[in-house]
Amino acid sequence: MKPELATAFNKEMTDARMAWTARDLSTCFRSLERAHILGQRNLWPHILTHGWMLRVGWARCDYREVVGQILRLIATLPGALFGWVPEGNTGGANVSALKPMPVPDEFKPYFAKNSMLKGMLLRVLIISVIMVLMI
Ligand SMILES: [Fe+2]
Repeated sequence: MKPELATAFNKEMTDARMAWTARDLSTCFRSLERAHILGQRNLWPHILTHGWMLRVGWARCDYREVVGQILRLIATLPGALFGWVPEGNTGGANVSALKPMPVPDEFKPYFAKNSMLKGMLLRVLIISVIMVLMI
């Protein structure tokens, strides 16, 4: 994760944790959605945001969210390997996990330099290494 993207992601996660501490679950979830947009191309930040969304869903007794987040947590690894990362997706169970969504204007600079080809080549390399290790 590039440093400027990591800084923006960490700010949203800090905001989410502060809202969690204040028991403001709506604000917490909104910050997690913003963190998801920023972090979903990186495996650990992606897992972290869905884990926190699961926690918020559980605290709200929102079992649709809980089930949705468990499914999204399971999908993070194949998503990272195969590039199933819809740009701008907010990550909540209220939207399809495969639906691209508009990226907020303030986040657009973080995605301007993204190279789809570079990402695909990296994934092919990772899958190749895994296949070689399995032989
Ligand atoms: Fe996600």
